Amino acid sequence: MSSEVFHIIDPRTFNRELLDELCEITDTSRALGKTPEGAAALRSLLADKRAMLYFTQASTRTFLSFNNACHLLGIGTSEIRDPAISSEVKGESFDDSMRTFSSYVDVIIMRTPERGLAGRAAALMDLIPRRVPIINAGSGPDQHPTQALLDIYTLERSFAGRGGIDGKTIAMMGDLRRGRTVRSLCYLMKNYHDIRLVFVSPPSLAMRNDIKKHLVQHNIVFSETAVLDDVLGSVDALYVTRMQSEWDEEEESLKVDLDDFSIGPNQLPKLNPDAVIMHPLPRGPEIDPVVDSDPRAMYWRQERNGMWMRAALLIKIFGVEEQLRNQR
Ligand code: CP
Repeated sequence: MSSEVFHIIDPRTFNRELLDELCEITDTSRALGKTPEGAAALRSLLADKRAMLYFTQASTRTFLSFNNACHLLGIGTSEIRDPAISSEVKGESFDDSMRTFSSYVDVIIMRTPERGLAGRAAALMDLIPRRVPIINAGSGPDQHPTQALLDIYTLERSFAGRGGIDGKTIAMMGDLRRGRTVRSLCYLMKNYHDIRLVFVSPPSLAMRNDIKKHLVQHNIVFSETAVLDDVLGSVDALYVTRMQSEWDEEEESLKVDLDDFSIGPNQLPKLNPDAVIMHPLPRGPEIDPVVDSDPRAMYWRQERNGMWMRAALLIKIFGVEEQLRNQR
């Protein structure tokens, strides 16, 4: 990727230099935000910008973290969360809706139930005079690139005293076939050295072949198992996901014995004492609330990291990272 960062659609376009820089910008901005003077400086960084949050699929934390990231940076926000109260209900096309948003704002952040729509919006922007960046905040069961960025930041921080992400073994567990967060995180792994991935899932919800092919192309070692106990002692991170029941046309989730793909009091003693437990949230029964008080549980910090990483992404998109650094 060139130094220009514009549309954020596909995690495959990220390189190590950009990922490291985004982590550095995240650290710098959250440190600045700890004082009233620093927070005021952050709010002045992008006070001339406006963002559209177009979220037509359910979201709590991606919506709220982007919304609050915008406000941390002084960006004004508008939102549509229900197409039934936009002019789409009168028959306005998706393309015309996007073009209309671009008339009023400087960036469009969008989550949709359909795969590929963020990419289509980006392609449209590249054809019109008022071209604004599109950020994919989750596209169907396909990709969730900004979740993968905050996951990378969380992993880097968790392993800060242990050489970072390079050389680590990361297990991903749950509904890997339909979970977009694990798909996006797998794509980013090509930027790190000597990674080993372990996919823990029922065979019916195993990681799809397109991702496995990508891992093979990038010489990333991976293995698959349906037995969590086999991996608990050896992983550096256990990335847990829920059953994606919103895509459950054939009730696949109901056929899974969730006890086999969950972490709770029985699994914690077997988990590597240095491992971290992550989850993109929202969770289902796959993480027992008793895990919340375990020092290895990282998911609540991961959630908060999302706001700061999304702020860093906006800082990079609008090219004000030097102004940020000058505030240190
Ligand atoms: N992790 C995540 O995307 O959460 P929301 O669906 O609540 O935005």
